[in-house]
Amino acid sequence: MKTVSTVAELREQVLAAKQSGKKVGFVPTMGNLHNGHMTLVDHAVQACDFVVASIFVNPLQFNDKSDLSRYPRTLEQDSELLIQHKCDLLFAPTVDEMYPNGQDSQSIVSVPEVSMGLCGGARPGHFDGVATVVTKLFNMVLPDQAFFGEKDFQQLAVIRKMVADLCIPVEVTGVPTVRSANGLALSSRNGYLSEQELEQAVQISVSLKQLITDMQNGVKQEDAKAKAVQHLANVGFTLDYLEVYRSADLKPATTEDTNLVVLVAAFLGPARLIDNMSFSLNTNID
Ligand code: PAJ
Repeated sequence: MKTVSTVAELREQVLAAKQSGKKVGFVPTMGNLHNGHMTLVDHAVQACDFVVASIFVNPLQFNDKSDLSRYPRTLEQDSELLIQHKCDLLFAPTVDEMYPNGQDSQSIVSVPEVSMGLCGGARPGHFDGVATVVTKLFNMVLPDQAFFGEKDFQQLAVIRKMVADLCIPVEVTGVPTVRSANGLALSSRNGYLSEQELEQAVQISVSLKQLITDMQNGVKQEDAKAKAVQHLANVGFTLDYLEVYRSADLKPATTEDTNLVVLVAAFLGPARLIDNMSFSLNTNID
């Protein structure tokens, strides 16, 4: 695997791959790679002939600057993992390479509606930062296909809408959330948790599964949500949001909708954890 840090070197490498007829896959990340990220790389290696991963902790998407400064940076370890998983090229640019004219004068990509609410409500400007950096990365890499985790369900919806609205010629593929054996969704932010907090954190997926079972058994949405919220409070979480939305467009679910997703964000000690699960109802909900 080759590692490059400039756009010029990146373009040169990708052009050579394209000229030899290779299909280019792309996995954008912020590094501190774990099995969730590596599953995206595995999907890309399966579907494409030349796989590019990027590692860039994007300041534009952090509204909380202390969150940005403490974000784990583990480039050496990440490179090792990428080599093991047969990634062909790592793009690891500096902030100046990504934002040569400064962040304040950067043109911004803003995706309406789907960026509002949930994590967009809790983290103002976050999805503008994500949409902007992903647009730039797409234009730098020019991939045929790009891979994103369903773990960040709203982010995936934002990227899909952006690609459709702006006619960006990239196929976007969503990859199911990778969890540890006890059900906890893998996340770089799990590294902020103590051993005891890691055990508590499992309760997020427990409460989502329970909500789904309850709703599938006919419990009303409001009652199922209230029970999940209470459970998370009882086990020590401070809730940011817990919502049941339509999975197709991330609008609040009505009684007519049967393809749903429950999404949650909650604070546990030093970490804000997010998770979601898609599910369907045979009958309409109340
Ligand atoms: P990051 O948090 O590093 O995540 C990179 C990709 O890995 C995202 O598509 C995310 O959804 C996916 N991912 C993370 N944990 C996962 C898990 N447990 N299972 C499956 N996929 C998982 O998301 C970002 O970076 C940034 O916002 C980025 C898109 C790179 C733009 O800066």
